[in-house]
Amino acid sequence: MFEFIDVKFKEIIDLPALCFERKKITTLIGASGSGKTTILKMLNKMLSPTHGRIIYNHTDLRRINSVAHRRQVAMLSQNPAIFEGNIRENLLIGLKLQEKDLPGDDAVLGVMEQVKLNKPLDSPVYTLSGGEKQRLALGRILLLNPEVYLLDEPSAALDENTEEMIMQMVTGHVRKKNKTLVMVTHSKAIAEQYADTVIEIVSGRCFRRGENNERDH
Ligand SMILES: Nc1ncnc2c1ncn2[C@@H]1O[C@H](COP(=O)(O)OP(=O)(O)O)[C@@H](O)[C@H]1O
Ligand SMILES: [Mg+2]
Repeated sequence: MFEFIDVKFKEIIDLPALCFERKKITTLIGASGSGKTTILKMLNKMLSPTHGRIIYNHTDLRRINSVAHRRQVAMLSQNPAIFEGNIRENLLIGLKLQEKDLPGDDAVLGVMEQVKLNKPLDSPVYTLSGGEKQRLALGRILLLNPEVYLLDEPSAALDENTEEMIMQMVTGHVRKKNKTLVMVTHSKAIAEQYADTVIEIVSGRCFRRGENNERDH
């Protein structure tokens, strides 16, 4: 689905050949500063390679409109923006920006259940903890219903139990809906437990790529 051909980003990334497969779950692991976030941002066209090219569905990403691209390929950043206002407004803001139809409260509450947030939609967001804000931002991405999810350490602020619940929900959702997921995680255990492919990045290079062939879909 994504093919990197001789991609470099400044001195940070050097990926002669790397692909991310459609309808698969790929996890990116590696030390802090190794380039994982930079790779996600290139998949989302927030950054463009300084050398080489990235092919998305047979088309060079440079030839694809960034806004149109991000409708299909949505990224949850490591420190997602939370806006003033209530939970409902924060969940719907992505759809509003993309000028899509807004769902009713039933659908919004369905997403709240998916991300394990049990709060009234009218609650102000300043009452939420860091982990709850991260899940709120994940809910916002789920509502966008993109083809490809790019999640940058989505469970970094969560305790172990919540992390497990959220990982099961996200990966279950992606498989059930036939979506594609590329996820950065700090946890090797999570990476191996849930992914079809684990890519280890060292100093901006692909150090190891492992396929989890035993996974039973
Ligand atoms: N736009 C940028 N321009 C130059 N250097 C950057 C840019 N973004 C990140 N860096 C640097 O690139 C390296 C990799 O960063 P990053 O991709 O955020 O790593 P990771 O997500 O694996 O922790 C870091 O040294 C960081 O400081
Ligand atoms: Mg990062």
